[in-house]
Amino acid sequence: MIILIGGEKGGPGKTTIATNLAARRTSEIEDVLLIDTDKQSTASYWCSAREDKGIKPRVTSVQKYDKAVRTEIIELKKKYTDIIIDAGGRDSPELRAALLVCDKAIFPLRPSQFDLWTLGRLNSLVEIALEINDKLKAYVVINQASPNPAVKESEEMREFISDFENIKMLNTVVCERIVFRRAALNGMSVLEYKPEDIKANEEIENLYKEIYE
Ligand SMILES: Nc1ncnc2c1ncn2[C@@H]1O[C@H](COP(=O)(O)OP(=O)(O)OP(=O)(O)O)[C@@H](O)[C@H]1O
Ligand SMILES: [Mg+2]
Repeated sequence: MIILIGGEKGGPGKTTIATNLAARRTSEIEDVLLIDTDKQSTASYWCSAREDKGIKPRVTSVQKYDKAVRTEIIELKKKYTDIIIDAGGRDSPELRAALLVCDKAIFPLRPSQFDLWTLGRLNSLVEIALEINDKLKAYVVINQASPNPAVKESEEMREFISDFENIKMLNTVVCERIVFRRAALNGMSVLEYKPEDIKANEEIENLYKEIYE
């Protein structure tokens, strides 16, 4: 399966979600590839940190840029059962190319109006991609939500997102938790980090199941 983690906004947690999914998927399946199409190379730095610290299992990653991303992914698909693409935070040739070949596109968004305003454009990008890639399914996952249960922003977002024809919202909501930053610093997923944060672990496990099962 090819999973694209993308969006049109900087910083909602694309690399955080992509690296956590890559580590989790690699714990189950051997031939997983993380493709970093973002020139900031954050996912690649995470892989290097993982390598330096000797974290196992090893996550294989490559960097690919520009429109050729589409043909490169088609080639890489012959070698890897599972591909996760971190496509960076803007409407780029890489994002458009990846939309044409992925099975699922996941757009992490913060529960903020500024992030929501990108949904119209994302919905249009998905609509264009669907003309060529009719298997494509697109989802929003709320990330960096308030862990305070009294804050109902995610529910408000669910209502807002229901207006978009081509994009659904995943049930899993990932909250703002310090363990995501600590794990990232060490080239780990939150599932690997100690001391563990049970709630963060549950969120990533639920997200993983929702995407892969
Ligand atoms: N759920 C979370 N809880 C706490 N911190 C988080 C969470 N998700 C992401 N972060 C932190 O927010 C910052 C931005 O996250 P990340 O780099 O994953 O975003 P991005 O969408 O990939 O950004 P860019 O658009 O620059 O590629 C990072 O410092 C990351 O550790
Ligand atoms: Mg990133």
